[in-house]
Amino acid sequence: MSPSSTRGVNPLRDALDRRLPRIAGPSGLVIFGVTGDLSRKKLMPAVYDLANRGLLPPGFSLVGFARREWEHEDFAAEVHAAVKEHARTPFREEVWQQLVQGCRFVQGNFDDDEAFETLKSTIAELDKAQGTGGNFAFYLSVPPKFFPRVVQQLKKHGLADQREGSWRRAVIEKPFGHDLTSARELNRIVHEVFPPNEVFRIDHYLGKETVQNILALRFANQMFEPIWNRSYVDHVQITMAEDIGIGGRAGYYDGIGAARDVIQNHLLQLLALTAMEEPGSFDADALVTEKSKVLGAVRLPADLGAHTVRGQYAKGWQGGEQVPGYLEEDGIDPASTTDTFAAVKLEIDNRRWAGVPFYLRTGKRLGRRVTEIAIVFQRAPHSPFDSTATEELGQNALVIRVQPDEGVTVRFGSKVPGTSMEVRDVSMDFAYGESFTESSPEAYERLILDVLLGDANLFPRVEEVELSWKILDPIEEHWEKTGRPAPYPAGTWGPAEADEMLARDGRSWRRP
Ligand code: BG6
Repeated sequence: MSPSSTRGVNPLRDALDRRLPRIAGPSGLVIFGVTGDLSRKKLMPAVYDLANRGLLPPGFSLVGFARREWEHEDFAAEVHAAVKEHARTPFREEVWQQLVQGCRFVQGNFDDDEAFETLKSTIAELDKAQGTGGNFAFYLSVPPKFFPRVVQQLKKHGLADQREGSWRRAVIEKPFGHDLTSARELNRIVHEVFPPNEVFRIDHYLGKETVQNILALRFANQMFEPIWNRSYVDHVQITMAEDIGIGGRAGYYDGIGAARDVIQNHLLQLLALTAMEEPGSFDADALVTEKSKVLGAVRLPADLGAHTVRGQYAKGWQGGEQVPGYLEEDGIDPASTTDTFAAVKLEIDNRRWAGVPFYLRTGKRLGRRVTEIAIVFQRAPHSPFDSTATEELGQNALVIRVQPDEGVTVRFGSKVPGTSMEVRDVSMDFAYGESFTESSPEAYERLILDVLLGDANLFPRVEEVELSWKILDPIEEHWEKTGRPAPYPAGTWGPAEADEMLARDGRSWRRP
């Protein structure tokens, strides 16, 4: 049972519960694909940081599964190096010494029955030596094509069996499928092995503090919700821009592209949190219900040619250096039509949002790394000030700065000091770093802890994943029929077509 599902019975105890640190009970984590980038940069450091913050049980165990010919010691040395390089909290020898007691490595590939039997006996050994109580989460940090194989192997070897008083969970990285049909098939396979409440689909954006703050901003305050609708909002822009290229991820990225990599999950989740109705509680069921309602109400423009754009970076300049175009990157097919930039206009067919466009864009090798949600308000219906004394005012905006400079900005017009009535745009900023002394956990820390606690609030459910593919599939199908993505020089803000898309609506993209 999720800790949140008993909430509401005793409000005082609930309030106290929420203030207590949430500490995982006896458990362990098995990572498939442990030699990959995600594991080294995010997962291993997150486990250490959780241990360092005192949020893991003393016997917590970490098992790596991969093809590499490693002994337990080699694996432990890898974890140590990853922690030293990427952990957020200071290195403490005593924490490390405790963690290393539970580090084990199992060598094998996903077809190797013997390796899965070794995994089984390793878990049994850890239950005895480390007191993990049979509670294990299996983290599939592997290319999506291996998801079915791994879960079927877990089933075949009895590793997914739920025993009385203990749990087995699956944690699945994105992208969850390639389109609606494959996502449904994958869900069917996973649900044959794990019960739905033991499947945790990762969308690491939901683990970010600033993303969780969307709900706090909207629903813990009185001043925003009354204007959070079509009567006041002109449009919404959701941007996730990266300055990096695809690096060494050609094998993953080519054929997937920006829209499947990011819009289907991160950006549609941001849209859902921004646009959904207030949930009855901060409980997984209530959140899924509201997010699914709004995703189900998303409508695509009739003319996809005019209201969607896909692009691909060409050679250009970034940080004073010349960088290669996508087609020149190592491992990329020189004829590839994969999108590294995608922009779409969506509308939401409900009373709150009818007629308000939501513009979503994402891309690699753009001007700079920034993720933000900008709620852009309508212009004041009338200005009593002489227009010659008033600069051309922008529209009021509330900008949720997801990263890197986490916070919220409100933009509004203000009188310029002086003897005339001149009005100019100014902004008011809230910055996490200035208002809080508490440090934010890394998204993966929060999500791994939630998995161990069985708390599903921050994980997209099957309904949301499927609804998101329903939104994206027609766009991808349209793009497949329309030739190559539009090129844009690295270091710019995407193809000219993206600017034209907004100009057609009399609007322009923000330059964050
Ligand atoms: C991942 C995408 O989900 O998010 C990557 O697969 C992208 O392509 C990454 O680079 C960005 O994450 P963040 O947390 O740095 O914004």
